[in-house]
Amino acid sequence: MNQPVNILVLGSGGREHALAWKIAQSSRAATVYVGPGNPGMFRRPGKIQPALINGTPLSAVDSEAIILFCRIFTCDLVVVGPEAPLAAGVVDDLQAAGIMVFGPSRSAARLESSKAFARHVMQRAGVPSPGFSIVREWNDLPRAIEAWPWARGMVIKVDGLAAGKGVFVCRSRDEAWRAVGSLKLMDSQSAGTMTRDGLVCEELLIGREVSAFAICDGRAFIPFGMACDHKRLLDGDFGPNTGGMGAYSPVDWLDESVAREIGQIVFQPVLDEMDALGSPFRGVLFAGLMITDEGAKVLEFNVRLGDPECQVLLPRLDEDLLGIILAATTGRLAHEYSRGFKWHPGAAVHVVKAAEGYPGIDGVRVRAGDPVFETVPVAEGGADNLVFYAGVAKRQGANFGDKGDLKSCDLETSGGRVLGITAVGPDLRHARDRVYSGIDDITFEGAQWRTDIGKCVTSP
Ligand code: AMP
Ligand code: GLY
Repeated sequence: MNQPVNILVLGSGGREHALAWKIAQSSRAATVYVGPGNPGMFRRPGKIQPALINGTPLSAVDSEAIILFCRIFTCDLVVVGPEAPLAAGVVDDLQAAGIMVFGPSRSAARLESSKAFARHVMQRAGVPSPGFSIVREWNDLPRAIEAWPWARGMVIKVDGLAAGKGVFVCRSRDEAWRAVGSLKLMDSQSAGTMTRDGLVCEELLIGREVSAFAICDGRAFIPFGMACDHKRLLDGDFGPNTGGMGAYSPVDWLDESVAREIGQIVFQPVLDEMDALGSPFRGVLFAGLMITDEGAKVLEFNVRLGDPECQVLLPRLDEDLLGIILAATTGRLAHEYSRGFKWHPGAAVHVVKAAEGYPGIDGVRVRAGDPVFETVPVAEGGADNLVFYAGVAKRQGANFGDKGDLKSCDLETSGGRVLGITAVGPDLRHARDRVYSGIDDITFEGAQWRTDIGKCVTSP
């Protein structure tokens, strides 16, 4: 396929903004539609356009509407960003309608949507993992807690997708019983859906976490880099868990040989096992790893790019992403990219600016509706750093005017992770200096961000 193609990216966050930005750089990309997207992505004139049906943003989980959109706007390829459409089977629906799509089928997406399924696949494939036991019924959890070898702690996980709220790290039996209380409360608030599919209890691993990615075409994979995200809200890895407050790549404290080994001991065996199960995996496979004294072990699989890891990987990728996606979707990955992908030799650091109150736990209100202010170079796209938008809406009503060197733009915050800034530099230290020197170029009332992204590593 050498003619320019229209592409539809599904999703609305910083990851999807980065995906659309990178795909749009391809000479083969005509228009890159994003549905539902966010108004921050569509600010600059160019190839990235909102996917609208009758003026309404396209939902990422409404297969019928997506198929209709692709037919009306002659989209040749759909790229799925988040997990929800994958778990809902949007890929299967599009394929049945004859539309080319990059992402795993619903049954392959169970590697993320069912933690018990993922553990069984890992066990059968011999992937290094923590010890675990599956708890199908509430009533069996007390027995599992009492029988647990408490020299090592326990991590209790809800089996299905739980938007990051279904994992309880318990260092002692007392903590496990407290987790039972929290789980019961969440379960009653969700009318029993939270624990409907059961629970997984895992051995608590100690080490450093890293995210490893692979692009897969069903049989073969090509490594797609590694990154670290910072999940806690506050500097020094304190405070509550979030969707991710920033990321850096590459992972300079990890030996090259470990990265190679992960392909052999994690990605290939899982691809083989999924193929044997009749659910070949196509798309991005994301292994959340713990690097322990005994080597790398898999904490979880995700079936998509990470957010915010994507916002450091794509700026470092020295390839035509659309070419990679087309090769993976048509089973030509190993043939076309046996040399691996080329990467910028330097480093990238991404810092998220979140709204006051984020992540909104214990009834804390997440502030929204504040105007976004920026310096003129950011508005014109002239700044060195990249801005990827997530929780923003089109500003209604009054112009908020200037604030020193900053001017209000046509956006306001709509909560959560509002935006993120990525800088690329010759090494981690330079990328970090660059991102923080531009951190005030775009801001809003109540903004919170970490000041140590990429710092807790071995580089100077
Ligand atoms: P998950 O959704 O499975 O990635 O879990 C979310 C977070 O919980 C991970 O990023 C880890 O910080 C932590 N976690 C999950 N499983 C384990 C484990 N077996 N040992 C230690 N920490 C874990
Ligand atoms: N950054 C972790 C995730 O995307 O799940």
